[in-house]
Amino acid sequence: MPAMKKKLCLVTFGCQMNVHDSQRMEDLMRDAGYEVVPEVEGADVVILNTCSVREKGEQKLRSEAGKLKKADTVLVVAGCVAQQEGEALLKSMPFIDVVVGPDNLQELPALVREAELGGPSTVRTVFDVDAPHFLTNSVAPGAAGASAYVTVMKGCDERCSFCVVPYTRGPERYRPADDIVAEVRALVEGGTREVVLLGQTVNSFLDPTVALPADRDPDESQFPELLRRIAAEAPGLDRLRYTSPHPRHLTASLVRAHADLAVLSTHVHMPVQSGSDRVLKRMIRRYTRAEYVRRVTALRAARPELTLSTDIIVGFPGETRDDFDLTLSLVRELQFVSLYGFKYSVRPHTPALKLDDDVPEGEKQSRLLALFEVSEAQTRAHLATLVGARVELLIEGPSRPGAATWSGRTRANEIVHVAGGEGVGPGAVVVAEVARANKHSLEGRVESVRIPAATRVQPTFRRIALPVVTA
Ligand code: SAH
Ligand code: F3S
Repeated sequence: MPAMKKKLCLVTFGCQMNVHDSQRMEDLMRDAGYEVVPEVEGADVVILNTCSVREKGEQKLRSEAGKLKKADTVLVVAGCVAQQEGEALLKSMPFIDVVVGPDNLQELPALVREAELGGPSTVRTVFDVDAPHFLTNSVAPGAAGASAYVTVMKGCDERCSFCVVPYTRGPERYRPADDIVAEVRALVEGGTREVVLLGQTVNSFLDPTVALPADRDPDESQFPELLRRIAAEAPGLDRLRYTSPHPRHLTASLVRAHADLAVLSTHVHMPVQSGSDRVLKRMIRRYTRAEYVRRVTALRAARPELTLSTDIIVGFPGETRDDFDLTLSLVRELQFVSLYGFKYSVRPHTPALKLDDDVPEGEKQSRLLALFEVSEAQTRAHLATLVGARVELLIEGPSRPGAATWSGRTRANEIVHVAGGEGVGPGAVVVAEVARANKHSLEGRVESVRIPAATRVQPTFRRIALPVVTA
């Protein structure tokens, strides 16, 4: 009889990079003989993949880890809190077995094995600056998802004054364009229809194998060329998206790529953070409101059907009511179809520590609610315009695990739920008529199946809804 496989459960907090890292940790642990289970209860190994962008993420880790304290499980803390805190985590929570940073995930199976054998707790949080490694998708037969993340770069050199990411993810490192293109091609051959290119400032990409001219404009990257190469060299790819770009690298050449490449999604998430120049300057965002507006207006002119979403921080140190009103006016002016809104949260190792966190909590909350009201109204109005429209959907998976309906996305990234039918399933491309608008999604009826579901494509359980305001 084969030995019982050990059970592994992964709990993921935070951004798309963490979702991607979690998927890769699952692959590594599956290859090492573990069975991945959805529930923490009964798991032999639990991995908490953490986020430290806001203080709340750290609180979540503490409460989740606390619950596992007495259990007879191997507890692994991965992600940005692991990188940020390292040894200090073991001091406050000695029952943690392994602390592993984002650049050390390949060592995970060996570290877990040592813990299972009763070894002491270990901490591995070393950046791979000299020889960066990029986690890639498993393209074993039957492993391809309808939609897949592909890493383009990691780390961040921007140092926005509020942000801990440059500290937790290290300096920018780029992946050779040839490797990125090869991964996309392999995914497409495996049945993947959509690729989402990932990076902290994904559009700052520079091919490390290509020498750069000394007089290069620092805002110009090789990201537009990368998009063109993927479009040309992976012609079977149905859709191409990327996240998250920085506005300063939204240059004329990237705008031209959007005009030329039909494969590019007609939705772009472009974090703006604030509508006030005074605040943008203190945030060290390196653009003004007018520059941001000019750049996204050019993008829209290149692709008139394009929709935009954004990230906003309220209550940054020194933000007055007038500054905040400028943010509201920008949200209205640019008609973002959705946004993520955050209350400023003091983070260790950030330049903004020098500034006084002077906007009272109650005021932050009321600004967030005011932002929420404006953005929800815009989301509702936008979704309402789609009722009665015919849209092309890429079916990703069941609406929820076990649900009878399927969930797909339009080219502009709206979520549409449809009933099942012949050929409808993960990886299918269908034409649907939108029947109803919900708060953050649409319901539709399938009219025809353009590309039937492929049996070898895995459902994508990546339910990151259209961005909404969160506290
Ligand atoms: N470039 C990254 C940004 C990571 S942080 C990306 O790929 O998404 C994601 C968002 O969290 C930021 O855009 C910002 O709006 C918010 N954020 C970051 N630090 C924050 C802080 N200290 N307080 C509140 N919100 C923060
Ligand atoms: Fe953070 Fe700014 Fe980089 S938000 S990830 S420092 S672009």
